[in-house]
Amino acid sequence: MDIFEAMALRRSSRAYTTEKVSAEELEKLLFAANSAPVGGAHYENIHLTVVQEPALREQLRAAGAGANSSADPFYGAPLVILVSARARQSSPGVEIANAACLVEHMHLAATALGLGSVYIWGCLPGLRADAALKTRLGIPDGFEPLSAIAVGHVAEAPAPRTFDGQYACDLFL
Ligand SMILES: Cc1cc2nc3c(=O)[nH]c(=O)nc-3n(C[C@H](O)[C@H](O)[C@H](O)COP(=O)(O)O)c2cc1C
Repeated sequence: MDIFEAMALRRSSRAYTTEKVSAEELEKLLFAANSAPVGGAHYENIHLTVVQEPALREQLRAAGAGANSSADPFYGAPLVILVSARARQSSPGVEIANAACLVEHMHLAATALGLGSVYIWGCLPGLRADAALKTRLGIPDGFEPLSAIAVGHVAEAPAPRTFDGQYACDLFL
């Protein structure tokens, strides 16, 4: 699949089968993350956490669900990859942009692999507030999980997107 096909097919998937993501697929997702741009090339400020082990995956679910205790903010996807980052005083906000770049690269790679995926943001305050879980996950001091992606197999492939130019775009050619 070429990159434009992957872009056309990329959609947020919110229902998954229980089939695990294979080691080969995970390797490609991590290749995608590692090839994303990072502000100032400060790669030392990024930390990835890959969770597919069911007991830990369940702890992530519980922390993300918070008061809504039975919900799964990762929609049953077997694999969750957290992108944690460390802020840089000299470049305010760059850590959020960096995390987004990594997630989007993985989102497109997942699509190219025929996997479903969805960008995860809304439930992450619950993870950031859980110091014990962050320690259990090995997230280093000074790093916070700022974005994540849930990945898995989907029963039904999404319909290809047709370009509908949804953004206002002024052209000065
Ligand atoms: C920064 C960001 C945060 C997002 N957070 C969530 C989230 O927490 N949970 C979720 O289900 N989808 C999340 N999404 C997915 C968007 O809802 C989705 O991209 C949007 O509805 C457009 O649909 P599409 O991805 O199928 O094109 C997020 C997307 C972005 C870019």
